[in-house]
Amino acid sequence: MIKLIIYALKRFAWFKRLNAKVTYELLAKRVPAAEWQFMNYGYVPNPNEKPIEVPEDPSIQKYPLQMYHYLALKTDLGGKKVLEVGSGRGGGAKHVASALKPASYIGMDLAQNAVDLANKLHHVPNLKFIQGSAEEIPLPDNSVDVVLNVESCHAYGSVEKFINEVKRVLKPNGTFALVDFRDADKMYVLRQQLKNSGLTWIEEEDISSNVVRAIEAEDEVKKARIKKLFPPKWQKLFGEFAGVVGSTFHTKMKNGVKVYHRFVLKKPA
Ligand SMILES: C[S@@+](CC[C@H](N)C(=O)[O-])C[C@H]1O[C@@H](n2cnc3c(N)ncnc32)[C@H](O)[C@@H]1O
Repeated sequence: MIKLIIYALKRFAWFKRLNAKVTYELLAKRVPAAEWQFMNYGYVPNPNEKPIEVPEDPSIQKYPLQMYHYLALKTDLGGKKVLEVGSGRGGGAKHVASALKPASYIGMDLAQNAVDLANKLHHVPNLKFIQGSAEEIPLPDNSVDVVLNVESCHAYGSVEKFINEVKRVLKPNGTFALVDFRDADKMYVLRQQLKNSGLTWIEEEDISSNVVRAIEAEDEVKKARIKKLFPPKWQKLFGEFAGVVGSTFHTKMKNGVKVYHRFVLKKPA
């Protein structure tokens, strides 16, 4: 019953905003664990993508880190000003800011507690985290070279407002690279929103199978992390949220009911 009510309410922009704010404020405040730095479902690279060395350490979330790495490789970040919208607990920002050498990297998130946690956990000279909304980005026009967005825009009240804001803050020739999931029969909506934006289309890839493989490869470590960080009565609910094997998200991805896509666009010169 509660699930049905939440499903119905999610059609309202105000509820989506409230839901995202409350969920991610609460998670960062209640579970400020340093070993949980990523909140995306992860990515296994394609054979044509150059493998990266990630230490075999269960405290490093290898697959979610790879989601960032291979998205960021879609453009050359060397010496660029990067904005990430929806940076969460900041693990992806830290990896990209250290490994791919942008001049500066701002991670922005709606949840102040997530921003505070990220600033506490990650200390890289070219990196800082700020609070702000995707629908009203607190940066000047034409001020960044690249906008990254990882598994976040499904939660926004208005994706159109977000895309307009990305276009506003990007410099001419700037790149917008994003990954996110949708119900398979709704992915066309996001595609159309991007195509209508006035940004130049570069590419779209269906990375659903890469995500399913990551969920399955990370499962044992993820379940152990949930056991460690959450009291028993919350473990099943959080397993659903985190998309463990057998969860609704994993099942829907495996059956093709949900899909996960990667997009790259550019602001015209
Ligand atoms: C699934 S988490 C992904 C976090 C991070 N990108 C990662 O992969 O680890 C979604 C994030 O989007 C943020 N978010 C949701 N709505 C937002 C908004 N309107 N503006 C900025 N961030 C938002 C949430 O607070 C949350 O941290």
